[in-house]
Order: sequence, then C-alpha cells, then structure tokens
Amino acid sequence: MASGLPLEIDDLRVSVEGKPILRGVTLGVRQGEVHALMGPNGSGKSTLANTLAGHPRYEVTGGRVRLGEKDLLALSADERARAGLFLAFQYPVEVPGVTVASFIHAALKARGQDVPFVEFRRRLLEKIALLEWDPDIARRHLNEGFSGGERKRNEVLQMVMLEPKVAVLDETDTGLDVDSIKVVSGGVNSLRGENLGVLIITHYERILRYIEPDFVHVMFEGRIVRSGGREIVDRIERQGYDWVKEEVAAGRTGVS
Ligand SMILES: Nc1ncnc2c1ncn2[C@@H]1O[C@H](COP(=O)(O)OP(=O)(O)O)[C@@H](O)[C@H]1O
Ligand SMILES: [Mg+2]
Repeated sequence: MASGLPLEIDDLRVSVEGKPILRGVTLGVRQGEVHALMGPNGSGKSTLANTLAGHPRYEVTGGRVRLGEKDLLALSADERARAGLFLAFQYPVEVPGVTVASFIHAALKARGQDVPFVEFRRRLLEKIALLEWDPDIARRHLNEGFSGGERKRNEVLQMVMLEPKVAVLDETDTGLDVDSIKVVSGGVNSLRGENLGVLIITHYERILRYIEPDFVHVMFEGRIVRSGGREIVDRIERQGYDWVKEEVAAGRTGVS
C-alpha cells in the first residue's frame, strides 16, 4: 500500500457559534487506505467534514491538520482542492450553462492539468462507462434537474476524474437508494489500491456492505472514542450505538 501524503488530523478542536463541537479529534488517513468514520447523529462527523472543507462557520480553536507537507487549515478551499483534497459535497450547486464535461475539464485545468480535449473526452467516457451511466450525461448542465442519485453519480464522476490524494465523503443523504450506494462504492473501489486515501463518513453501515474499510472509527460527542476494524461495523449493525455511550460512560475508550 502507498503511504505518501497522509491526511493527518491532530487534536482538532472546532467550535460553531462559540459552542465547542469537536473536542480533540486525532485521525490519520494515508493514501491507499479506506477509513470509515461512524457515530450517532450530532456527534460531530459533518462538523469535521465541513472544517476540512474550510467552511467559515467552523472556528478552529486548537490542533492541526496536515495534507502531506502542507498545513491544510492555512489554505483556502481552492488551494485545499489543488493540494489533492476532494470533498464529495463541494459542488452541489446547479450551474446553468455549464455542462458536466466542461466543469470537470475546467476543474482539471485549475489543478494544473491541461488535458488535451480528445484525451479528456476519452477518459471521461471511460469513467462514465465505469459508473454505468449514459454518455449523454456529459452534455447535461451541471446538477440541473439531477435526481438525488444523479447528483451522487456526478460527484463520484468528479472524484474519479480528478484523482485526488484524499477524498472525504460525507454520506449525509440517508435517503440514498441502493443504486446510488452501489455507484459511490463502485467509484471508490475503482480507485482503491492506487494513490487514494478515503474517509467515508456515515451514520449507517449500509454503504460499508459494498466498501470494505481498512479502519473504522466511532465518533461520540466530538471525539473518536473507538477505532478498530470491520467488527465495529458489525456491532453497530446489530446493536446500534447504545454500547458506545455505555463504554464512554464507563471510561472504556480506545482501540479495540
Ligand atoms: N452550522 C451549524 N450551526 C449550528 N450548530 C451546528 C452547525 N453544525 C453543526 N452544529 C452542531 O454540532 C453538533 C454536531 O453536528 P454534526 O457535525 O452535524 O453531527 P453529525 O454529522 O455527526 O450528525 C450538533 O449539536 C449540531 O447541532
Ligand atoms: Mg452529519
């Protein structure tokens, strides 16, 4: 497995409107690794994703985040993307007049990859086929009239085309249907073993039936209270999150 340029989150503390939400999160994701971050609603998972995205409402009050050699928190959202960070919910907006293809072409150019159009088109159609999508999608306007599933597929298309070093996928859409889950999983799995590090954030274990995580973490009240492997997912599937709360109350946290 590749081990270059990890995302390293170190004792990250974040407040929203003066209220501490993340209370010391430490997590490392190397290229080639898939990490799942689970946890009950309100535990701070999306706060972590939004902070990594550089959302201005999330005030970092302590800790550090590095992407390879870079201090991620010192970069603008755009610079974060150029440094190789991909956030699945980064471009959910409708962009009238801009097609799916031209958007991705421009995004590649902004990252310093000026791919000749013929080569770009070949790669794009290859990836669209990989996602079992209709090639006509390339000519549609970005997110305009897209169904939930199509938006998801489009995010995954952007991810496989941009070939980021680290992808953070916040599966906030609990209404995701099985087909969309398969598309997201297929996209992640197609990039696996190459240079991609993945952090999948999810409340439910459903998507982890299709993506085998190397590491599983449970967040509770703004901290990662347990880390381990697949057995954690199985336990959450069987028992929900009550056992996490009980272990925290009893002071039993750590790596299982
Ligand atoms: N933009 C925001 N404004 C106010 N409160 C927020 C905001 N984002 C998160 N929070 C609060 O932070 C806590 C954690 O939320 P969140 O990170 O969305 O959890 P999760 O994704 O694990 O369900 C919740 O109490 C939530 O109300
Ligand atoms: Mg969330």
